[in-house]
Amino acid sequence: MVKRRTCVFISGKGSNLNNLISHSRKSNFPIKICLVISDNKKAKGIIYAKKYKIPYIFINTNLTNYENKIILNLKKYKISFICLAGYMKIISGKLINIYKKKIINIHPSLLPKFKGLNTFSRILKNKEVKTGCTVHYVNEKLDSGNIITQKFFYIKSGNNEQTLKENTQKLEYKAFPEAVIKIFRYN
Ligand code: GRF
Repeated sequence: MVKRRTCVFISGKGSNLNNLISHSRKSNFPIKICLVISDNKKAKGIIYAKKYKIPYIFINTNLTNYENKIILNLKKYKISFICLAGYMKIISGKLINIYKKKIINIHPSLLPKFKGLNTFSRILKNKEVKTGCTVHYVNEKLDSGNIITQKFFYIKSGNNEQTLKENTQKLEYKAFPEAVIKIFRYN
């Protein structure tokens, strides 16, 4: 199997990055993680890039030409697929155009409900019965691209933001790799 050369974008803890790396080390998983990009020098997730000797770069998104730096590095590492895993910056139209239908994101809600930030507090406030996670293609509108996979659980009366987050992340570790397999199954 020819594995797609993939870049994972992160900003923080990187537990989804870690999970994707573990899956990508299996011979029949369709992607190989060849680059990690972080917009945050203090992102804890960088430890996983170091641990598995995957090249990683920091991008200072305060610089005006930062998108060009991203694009140059994606070319340098011959990246053909991108996973956003907790990346907190909006992806520009330029990058989306170059990687049409090749960028996916994981979001901690059942989209189209609760796009954007602070999902768990809004879910509780809205007295939702269930919640979960969504893996979707990235287009120019925030958290609005076509949905690839969703997983859900029922909310219990004792749930708070922390437990919702923990339950959601457990599902994310299943949903993200499943979505990757689904995308490349027939390609
Ligand atoms: C995940 O919960 C994801 O849904 C959201 O950001 C979080 C990233 O977590 N987009 P981690 O950095 O992968 O641990």
